[in-house]
Amino acid sequence: MLIRRCWLAIYILVIVMGSYKEIYQLALDKPEEFWAEAAEDLVWQKRWDKVLDETNSPFNNWFSGGKINTCYNALDRHVDEGNSRRLALIYDSPLTNVKQKITYLELRDRVASFSGVLRKYGVEYGDRVLIYMPMIPETVISMLACARIGAIHSVVFGGFASNELAKRIDDAKPKVIISASCGIEPGRIVEYKPLLDNAIRVSNSKPNHCIIFQRDMHEAELNNKRDIDWHDAHDKVTAADCVEVEATDPLYILYTSGTTGIPKGVVRPTAGHLVSLKWSMKSIYDVDPGDVYWAASDVGWVVGHSYIVYAPLFHGCTSILYEGKPVGTPDAGAFWRVISEHQVNCMFTAPTAIRAIKKEDPHAQLIKKYNLDCLRSQFLAGERCDPDTLEWTEKILNVPVIDHWWQTETGWPIASNCLGIEQMDIKPGSPTCAVPGWKIDVLDESSKPVQAGEIGAISLKLPLPPGSLPTLWQNDERFVDSYLATYPGYYETGDAGIIDEDGYLHVLSRTDDIINVAGHRLSTGGMEQVLAEHRDVAECAVLGVNDQLKGQIPLGLIVLKDGTNTEHSEIIEDVIKMVRAEIGPVAAFKMATVVKRLPKTRSGKILRGIIQKIADSVDYEMPATIDDPEILKEIKESLQKIGYAKE
Ligand code: COA
Ligand code: AMP
Repeated sequence: MLIRRCWLAIYILVIVMGSYKEIYQLALDKPEEFWAEAAEDLVWQKRWDKVLDETNSPFNNWFSGGKINTCYNALDRHVDEGNSRRLALIYDSPLTNVKQKITYLELRDRVASFSGVLRKYGVEYGDRVLIYMPMIPETVISMLACARIGAIHSVVFGGFASNELAKRIDDAKPKVIISASCGIEPGRIVEYKPLLDNAIRVSNSKPNHCIIFQRDMHEAELNNKRDIDWHDAHDKVTAADCVEVEATDPLYILYTSGTTGIPKGVVRPTAGHLVSLKWSMKSIYDVDPGDVYWAASDVGWVVGHSYIVYAPLFHGCTSILYEGKPVGTPDAGAFWRVISEHQVNCMFTAPTAIRAIKKEDPHAQLIKKYNLDCLRSQFLAGERCDPDTLEWTEKILNVPVIDHWWQTETGWPIASNCLGIEQMDIKPGSPTCAVPGWKIDVLDESSKPVQAGEIGAISLKLPLPPGSLPTLWQNDERFVDSYLATYPGYYETGDAGIIDEDGYLHVLSRTDDIINVAGHRLSTGGMEQVLAEHRDVAECAVLGVNDQLKGQIPLGLIVLKDGTNTEHSEIIEDVIKMVRAEIGPVAAFKMATVVKRLPKTRSGKILRGIIQKIADSVDYEMPATIDDPEILKEIKESLQKIGYAKE
């Protein structure tokens, strides 16, 4: 007891007075004590037995033996602490002209009631529920309702088509699917129901029920046996209370692109998620309970899970749920309107969104219409932030603009300028340094840290801090193969970069076949699988080429089967349609070209990296293993015809 008190006193002193370096060192030297203290900020039903449990390493668990409920800490706790009337959620939808303000009490009651609905339709502790929904409050309610009764949710982004949805249904095997009649994109209604029906038709696993939220702009046809209208489902329902959940139970599964067409089911552990996200709100974002926090992303992505839904609610903030775009809804002043109207204190978006605004309003004329005194900081993530974008944002907003780096697997930032600890110098092009809890090393091929300034594989020393994935859904082997096998003792992030002389990280590129399109992570392997299905395609390669707005966009190179007579333009049109139909519009696959052959190594591996460099007119070294260097000239000529590979 005495030791704990002494430690607590030191901890509080360092946390309150400490510099970034001191707090970082504390978390590195005493991770268990550090995270145990952070865990005191949550309400537990039973305290943990062990802070870091490595008995089943490398599948590590934080807070094992503890019992806690995510929904209780997001909602009920704030009601119980006297904050019933505080706004939990502001729904602002320029796409439908609807705004709603929902207090913590109202959200708690709506969630409790929907938990009752899930129970009524047979969902119990540990069951999976798939959520395929647009950016509406009912999506947040569905997620929290699952958490309330210990069911595991899996949200699928609305921009994915049936096939992608089916892959997720087959892996997660949900008992119930929650969806809506439609999503809204500028100028078009995306009917979800036909996409959902088709996904269920092609999947092997079938849900018992689908609960469909009918939106005013489009009514979906319901299938009598399986589908239930959201409102009807509430008939004679008893609100459900929060159940006790094991600290190590999965809260959710979120699928993300791997290098193959099969997505990876990232598992989020309940307690680690609560502790890390709650801690991040003050330490990284420097926000306090009652502040208004806005992550302009989509709940279908990890940013939406962590920073639209969970973290702001754990911290007692008001979160904005924005169903709109940075431009066109109605103009490039949309973000500034939302900030000023809802008095946003801290905002988070992707650099692409800022580039889209800058393209339409380069002199930021529209910002002058709004008073943005409320805004204290602007965070950016999801893709590399080019210095121009960061500097332009700083200039127009006149607040710290913080680039920070993380990924679906980690669930919260790995590298950031931690505003709540100590604001460090901002270096455009760098997400600053490792956040306390993470140990970042840049490694060479023999797993040794490289010298400062040298490029290598950005890797995270094990064990990973709370909140990060303990494994992939029912696939320990893929978890080990994908992340732990290459660099012993490390988690491989898949990103390459450098740590400079000042200890700042620079994330430069991916080391695998994943591309980042408008902040969305996509698998080129998945697109290649679709292209290869075309009857005239003999082989193909998809790679990401530089794009001024979206960072990268996919480009397909196809080699045709001998004797194909079909017009090239027709084949290209076909494959573009196929990717849209099978993966979804979010793939943004709009460009392909026919080439005679693809460059390969002597062992037959397609040299995608080299093709990408040729397309982007970047210098490259001729690989010693290439089978025929002449092919590169042909490729260059083909790319020049479509506006790439400029001299
Ligand atoms: N449901 C259905 N379709 C969707 C969708 C959804 N939820 N989200 C996007 N799409 C569609 C779009 O309508 C578009 O279709 P189109 O080919 O018919 O035009 C396609 O998917 C590509 O969408 P997007 O990448 O969003 O491009 P865009 O050209 O419509 O908009 C930006 C460009 C920059 C405005 C947009 O990409 C953006 O807001 N980016 C920010 C990204 C972000 O927040 N990322 C989260 C990580 S932090
Ligand atoms: P996702 O899992 O979809 O969030 O994508 C994670 C990937 O996006 C990372 O592994 C990086 O490749 C990229 N990424 C995210 N944030 C940044 C950033 N701030 N700088 C550079 N790359 C980033």
